[in-house]
Amino acid sequence: MSEEVLNSIFKGLIAAAKRVTRGESARKDPLFALAEDPTCPLLAAELLRAFQSMCVVVEGRATELNSELARLRHENQNLALTREKLSEAVKRLQGASLETIYRLVLAAEYKDEDTSSHIQRMSHYSAAVARSMGLSDKTVDEILYASPMHDVGKIGIPDWILLKPGKLDPGEWEIMKTHTTIGAGILEGSNSEIIRVAEVIALSHHERWDGSGYPFALKEEDIPLPGRIAAIADVFDALTSKRPYKDAWPSDRAFSVIEKESGRHFDPNVVEAFFGIREEILTIKRKFKDTDFTPPAFWRDNFTPEI
Ligand SMILES: [Fe+2]
Repeated sequence: MSEEVLNSIFKGLIAAAKRVTRGESARKDPLFALAEDPTCPLLAAELLRAFQSMCVVVEGRATELNSELARLRHENQNLALTREKLSEAVKRLQGASLETIYRLVLAAEYKDEDTSSHIQRMSHYSAAVARSMGLSDKTVDEILYASPMHDVGKIGIPDWILLKPGKLDPGEWEIMKTHTTIGAGILEGSNSEIIRVAEVIALSHHERWDGSGYPFALKEEDIPLPGRIAAIADVFDALTSKRPYKDAWPSDRAFSVIEKESGRHFDPNVVEAFFGIREEILTIKRKFKDTDFTPPAFWRDNFTPEI
């Protein structure tokens, strides 16, 4: 076999090696037939046969790898589907939990003038402010779920005070204030982070930044942040809602009061965050409009306060 033929064998092998490197088949390259040529030197024939065997093995492995890759892709798709289903289930559960909280709180406050819309607005205002203050998603969610329970302690206030149409006298007012400590008492000792935040909010949502609030006259940052946030949400909603003793104030007027009370009733940082999401606050207000819900007449009739 001439040197020229040997050179073409080596060049052919280099080309075949390159094809194998690119993942192409080189197993059936006509070059390997030269190994059976009686004029092919023994070493060259062995090299050709060894190279062809290597190509067979490499191609076999590539096929195995491709089918493993296809299996993994399929598994990945199944995992993505499962993840999607799980996340939908979690969302449904979260929605059901929030609705359960709203309905239980509504049951607890059934005789009060607060409606389910008030509870929903108040919790969404609180969560939106917490988000705009850069608090973590976890804390925002905790505040969303915990804030509806802020007035749960009203269940412990006698009807003749809770339903009194006129102004409360000082003694009655002192009793009314205890809805904070009663609420905290109802919620205390829970292992759930949400209920622990709810306890904090129930206890501190009537504290004031300048120390003139209740039940403990806490001042500034001694008041837990969720309580400072809930305070603005609660007051804004009370001002912009109709009550038996007042009409609903226009939003602008309520915003002015909040601004004026910055540094007095409210934490200035929370006020700033509240104003930073003014449009979002108005969107929440529109979304959770008051319905015509009122406690049925028999309920009111049976609990008419005797003054
Ligand atoms: Fe309250």
